[in-house]
Amino acid sequence: VANDGYKLWLQYYPIEQAASWQVSALTDQKILGNSPTIDLIKKELENAKAMLEPNKKKHQKGNNLLIGKVGDLNLNHIPTSQIEQLTDEGYAIFNHIGSRQLIVTSKTDLGLLYGTFKVLQLIQTGNSVSNEGLFESPKVKHRVLNHWDNLDRTVERGYSGFSIWNWHRLPRHIDQQYHDYARANASIGINGTVLTNVNANALVLTPEYLEKVKALADVFRPYGIKVYLTARFSSPIEIGKLPTADPLDSEVQSWWNEKANEIYQYIPDFGGFVVKADSEGQPGPHNYKRTQADGANMLADAVKPHGGIVMWRAFVYNEHTPDDRHKQAYNEFKPLDGKFKENVIVQVKNGAIDFQPREPFHPLFGAMPQTPLMMEFQITQEYLGHDTHLAFLAPLFEEVLKADTYTQGNGSEVAKVIDGSLHGHDFTAMAGVANIGTDRNWTGHHFHQANWFAYGRLAWNPYSSSEEIAEEWLKLTFTSNSDFVNPIKKMMLNSREMVVNYMTPLGLHHIMAESHHYGPGPWVTGGRRADWTATYYHQASEDGVGFDRTKTGSNALEQYATPLQEAWESLETVPEEYLLWFHHVSWSAPLKNGKSLWDNLALHYQKGVDESRENIAIWKSMERKIDHERYTHVLSFLQIQNQEAIWWKDACLTYFGQFSQMPIPEEVEKPL
Ligand code: GCU
Repeated sequence: VANDGYKLWLQYYPIEQAASWQVSALTDQKILGNSPTIDLIKKELENAKAMLEPNKKKHQKGNNLLIGKVGDLNLNHIPTSQIEQLTDEGYAIFNHIGSRQLIVTSKTDLGLLYGTFKVLQLIQTGNSVSNEGLFESPKVKHRVLNHWDNLDRTVERGYSGFSIWNWHRLPRHIDQQYHDYARANASIGINGTVLTNVNANALVLTPEYLEKVKALADVFRPYGIKVYLTARFSSPIEIGKLPTADPLDSEVQSWWNEKANEIYQYIPDFGGFVVKADSEGQPGPHNYKRTQADGANMLADAVKPHGGIVMWRAFVYNEHTPDDRHKQAYNEFKPLDGKFKENVIVQVKNGAIDFQPREPFHPLFGAMPQTPLMMEFQITQEYLGHDTHLAFLAPLFEEVLKADTYTQGNGSEVAKVIDGSLHGHDFTAMAGVANIGTDRNWTGHHFHQANWFAYGRLAWNPYSSSEEIAEEWLKLTFTSNSDFVNPIKKMMLNSREMVVNYMTPLGLHHIMAESHHYGPGPWVTGGRRADWTATYYHQASEDGVGFDRTKTGSNALEQYATPLQEAWESLETVPEEYLLWFHHVSWSAPLKNGKSLWDNLALHYQKGVDESRENIAIWKSMERKIDHERYTHVLSFLQIQNQEAIWWKDACLTYFGQFSQMPIPEEVEKPL
């Protein structure tokens, strides 16, 4: 049977030797309540029966799995206090001693849906519910995907086909894929979707498109997913025929108020707006000498009466500011702390440059105590080999979330900014730039489904571990066979570091080819603007390589808390993975292992190549453990990755070698 991966982590493949609790939970259920969401639960349980062999489908009596809201349960001895602590979206799963039932409960139908997915995931992975039970509430309120999808169905930085939103057929045709998309997201707790590109087209705010957006919102509603749109700042001029978009102009404010009223007539639970302003040519408040807060607050006022929010992006930089791009967002936003309306959250990319294979965390995290800040991760792999390079991103996300900002002393991790606990905010959010497209398997590389999955898990709980996520995803997606899961989990967990090794080791960054960012381009120079070139970032010359961001250079380091400044400004204490991010280092300088910087660089490139080669061998040994279709698909991508790791090594060593004038160490395969 074909397995094109369309079913993602919701495979519901037959369990080998199902235990009696698995059989009874799947065969005899009672579901209390009545709503479109409850209908989805019923359907899901029906689908999930595929996990049992046909002969195990015989009916067992006793309502073994009971699903119902707390108020409907009508049972004694339920763990009331733990249930009370659940948020609206939270759920409890526990074995009820008296009735011997497995119970899923929540305060809401959506919580029941989340709990149902969890039970089914436990059944598929063979993890039974412990005696203490499971009590889960999301730690982040708004868990959203950002689609960089254009109205012509191209996807900016999308590598898996075209946009799944078929604007031409909407609203009259509702494709099954919209349901499948919403179901997949609900199964990992994602509760919002921004349909359109941050480089926005104002047309999506016109009635013609709002009707289409409404049709999608209607599909997504029972799955607990709210729809958001990107708002082009100049919309009042472009579609409103006003002479200005000045946020302090009262006609502009009224235009946005009216526009919001109109949108909410179509979509009463519309989530709100995401805005990219004053960045990479996008219009914004700067055009009128206003601040980012002026712009954000105007939109916030417009959606406020309807309960909407504004996610205002901090990715603001421009070529007329001579400063290191690393510093620009901080310089712009830090002084605005406390100046945003209460329904504004500032959306900050994980690092200060742009979704590199490795970046130190963005210095704004922890630096704006009076303003809710949200995380923006990029799930799509703009700088990590697009669709064909395996890079499991959970370790990247986890590294950022676990990083200590020290802004409130030790233990001020980024995750605590994101879940609001560091500065006492309950308005919290996370965004992931989607990697989804019309490819049959949604994400191009089968393993990049894991990045969508991992994003959902970490948005729900930013303290989750990459290892657990990888294991769970593998078991749900392929098989529970540990001969497959263990080695492949190791391969996944190492894959991002492997990419760092063959692309940008030791803190190098943004040396990808120009504009498309696929493949190496350390030679890229000149061009439209300095900070879109590689030479700006690596600064290679005969005397060394790396961007000096200490006091002798751009001093971007001063934007971090003192303990980090101290640790990172010295060549002795800066972690090697950030070395060339913060320092310009001579080619012959010895690193920790006593070898020169040049030798270390070459050895990292070689390591990445070796690892990508080993992955092919590991994968080949899995041939009979999974289906042929996904096996061969992944194999050919791993082969591409290995060829391109060699390309990266050869290109970078040849290029940087012109400056270092040092021989390539013996252990390293010579460039052709
Ligand atoms: C990167 C990316 C752009 C995108 C931008 C953004 O610069 O290359 O395509 O628009 O990020 O996040 O706004």
